Amino acid sequence: MSAKKVFIKTFGCQMNVYDSERILESLSSLGFEETSQISCADLVVLNTCNIREKAAEKVYSELGRIRRMCEDSAHRDQKKTVVVAGCVAQAESYEIINRASVVDIIVGPQSYHMLPEMIKDTERHGHKLIDVNFNHQQKFNTLPQRNTKNNRATAFLTVQEGCDKCCTFCVVPYTRGAEYSRPVEQILNEAIALISRGAFEITLLGQNVNAYRGKGPDGRMWSLSKLINTLSELDGIKRLRYTTSHPCDIDEELIECHNYNSKLMPHLHLPFQAGSNRILAAMNRKHTSEEYLRIVDSIRLTKADIALSTDIIVGFPGETVAEFDKTLRVVEEVGFAQAFSFKYSPRPGTPAAAIKNHISEAEKASRLNALQSLIKEQQLRFNISCINKTLPVLFDRHGRNSGQLLGRSPYLQPVHAIIPYKMLGQIVPVKIISAKTNSLFGILQGSQL
Ligand code: 5AD
Ligand code: SF4
Repeated sequence: MSAKKVFIKTFGCQMNVYDSERILESLSSLGFEETSQISCADLVVLNTCNIREKAAEKVYSELGRIRRMCEDSAHRDQKKTVVVAGCVAQAESYEIINRASVVDIIVGPQSYHMLPEMIKDTERHGHKLIDVNFNHQQKFNTLPQRNTKNNRATAFLTVQEGCDKCCTFCVVPYTRGAEYSRPVEQILNEAIALISRGAFEITLLGQNVNAYRGKGPDGRMWSLSKLINTLSELDGIKRLRYTTSHPCDIDEELIECHNYNSKLMPHLHLPFQAGSNRILAAMNRKHTSEEYLRIVDSIRLTKADIALSTDIIVGFPGETVAEFDKTLRVVEEVGFAQAFSFKYSPRPGTPAAAIKNHISEAEKASRLNALQSLIKEQQLRFNISCINKTLPVLFDRHGRNSGQLLGRSPYLQPVHAIIPYKMLGQIVPVKIISAKTNSLFGILQGSQL
């Protein structure tokens, strides 16, 4: 008998990518193998994102497509079990069940370890099931050890989940729960398993990763920098990264760590969200723009060679043109290597959604446009500054054009190069010869084009 097939589609952030891997691993205990073709799947999992309205809407259109496919005569005899996982599942469980009859199981981000049992139950009895309990500890203690083949040089590892900051625009505290840090030993074991499967660059993930305070083997609470220093001593680890950080949780120790730990890559993602102090207060960000700029100065004083990236929201309720202008000033002052910018999207249940005086879509679009042209200029400037430099690039995938590999520089820039395929999965010195806004192009150091 051929193995049962599971198709998984992942929306949103890197933590969802990590969770999807772990869901697949836990489903292998039921004999499921991954397929990239939804039409052949016995089980379909949508791992969803709720951060902005557009992301959440995608789930319902995807479910519509799945329903039509299930009704199609070609697939009618193959019953598919449909699972909605992730942050939309957590936030809108009953609405999904009511709106989309094709869905069998709703599972929130803290209940993935329950999924195999839920699937067995649904297959046996045809029940519709919902599990949206919060229990980080149980999730990480119960999910099976990393067991599938990876063969990729890069891997994600969630060390912290949830958020206590409660920015007024954000759903994360409601969908991922309060901050939880995994114990050090569990993380070390997982890192060793990832290394044995071929990974040597690990990105530590957390909604507020620099707020990490996990129980160490010595019984004390360890900081992120202590965790990074210990991970960097593991045999086989060549590169470490972490994301996402909150400005209020950046400490001297972490900044120093960038300076002396050569395995920690020179890149820091540090969202500032808005430039106006009135808007930052309304967002409950707990920092002013001056404080943010001081942190940036102090980072650069310790480690000048570091790429900074950020997240920015335009058109928060009540944001005036003059206040938006302050966002542009902060961007100008910092000079980001990369920045992600978004139109404010009201999320049901968050405090900001209840604020009056919402900014029109047209105005938000025009502010986003202005901000993105500034960001593009800065990204291009940073990328151009790399021309003629030789950077160690970790190639971890094939490029779009034949003969090309795609990798990442230490600063996280995508680098395309025409180099032998055998260098896939290696860190290779690459001389950068041209730059675009979103990527670099290089040649193997010493080779002629
Ligand atoms: N609207 C727009 N952007 C948002 N983000 C979070 N919530 C919202 C929202 N309601 C952005 C923030 C955050 C990033 C992951 O998504 O900039 O840092
Ligand atoms: Fe959301 Fe703010 Fe927490 Fe980031 S820090 S996850 S934006 S609530």
